[in-house]
Amino acid sequence: MKKAIVVGASSGIGYQLAVLLSQNGYKVGITGRRDQLLVNLKATNPEQFIVSVFDATDIAAIPQNLKVLTDELGGLDLLVLSSGTGKINPELDINIEQGINALNVAGFTAVANWAFNFFQKQAFGQFAAITSIAGIRGNRQAPAYFASKAYQINYLESLRQKATNTKLPIYITDIRPGFVDTAMAAGENLFWVASAEKAARQIFRAIENKRDIAYVTKRWRIIGFLFWILPKFIHKRL
Ligand SMILES: NC(=O)c1ccc[n+]([C@@H]2O[C@H](COP(=O)([O-])OP(=O)(O)OC[C@H]3O[C@@H](n4cnc5c(N)ncnc54)[C@H](OP(=O)(O)O)[C@@H]3O)[C@@H](O)[C@H]2O)c1
Repeated sequence: MKKAIVVGASSGIGYQLAVLLSQNGYKVGITGRRDQLLVNLKATNPEQFIVSVFDATDIAAIPQNLKVLTDELGGLDLLVLSSGTGKINPELDINIEQGINALNVAGFTAVANWAFNFFQKQAFGQFAAITSIAGIRGNRQAPAYFASKAYQINYLESLRQKATNTKLPIYITDIRPGFVDTAMAAGENLFWVASAEKAARQIFRAIENKRDIAYVTKRWRIIGFLFWILPKFIHKRL
C-alpha cells in the first residue's frame, strides 16, 4: 500500500484529495489544526487514515511532526502540501501580511525542505504543493498572498532542478488552481469556480502523471498565460 501525507487535510482541497487518495489505495496521514475535522475524516474509513494535529507555522516542530507521522504510516511515497492562507488586504495591514507569510512562506519552506531531504535520502518520492494562479503576477488587493504564491512557485522550480540533478526518481508537482469553491474563495466576481471534488480529481491525476505543473481546472492555463504576457505598463494601472 502506498503512503501519503496531506498537510492541510481538514477542509477544502486537501480534504477532498485525502479522500481520493484513500479511495485509490493510499494510506494517508492527515494534518491540520482543527482536530475534530480530522477525527471526523478518519471515522469515515479508520484503516486508511492517521491523524496528526499541528500548526504548520510552528516551523521548529515541523521536522519532528512529519517524521513521527511517516514512521506511523510505515514510509512515505507522496507528500502534498495544501495548507495555506490568504486575505484581501487593501489597507496593507502588516499583521495580515506577516500572518500570511508565516504559513505560506516560512511554513511552506519548512515542509518543502523536510520533504525534499527525506525523498533524497530514500532515493524516491513525490512532493506536490497547492500554489495558485495568483503566483504569476502581483496584485494590489492582496500583496502578501500573491507574493507568497510566487515564492512557492519559484521554490518548487528550484527543488525540481535539484531533483533532476540527483538523477533519482523524485518528482516535484506544482498545482495552480484558479477558483475553487472552499472557505478561502469567499468573495465576489468569481468565475470558472470548480467544486473541491472536481479540483481534487484533476490534482490526483496530475500527481499520478508526475506532472511538473498543472492548472486546475485545466482552462485556468489560459488565464495564467494572459497574466504572464500582460505588459507591465498595463498591469501597473489595474
Ligand atoms: N480555494 C481557492 O480558490 C484556491 C485557489 C488557489 C489556490 N488555493 C490554495 O489551495 C490551498 C488550500 O486551500 P483551500 O481552498 O482548500 O482552503 P481551506 O478549505 O481554507 O483549507 C485550508 C487548509 O489549510 C489549513 N491551514 C490553515 N492554516 C494552517 C496552519 N497554521 N497550520 C496548518 N494548517 C493550516 C487548514 O487547516 P486548519 O485550519 O485545520 O489548520 C485547511 O486544511 C491553499 O494553499 C490555497 O492558497 C485555493
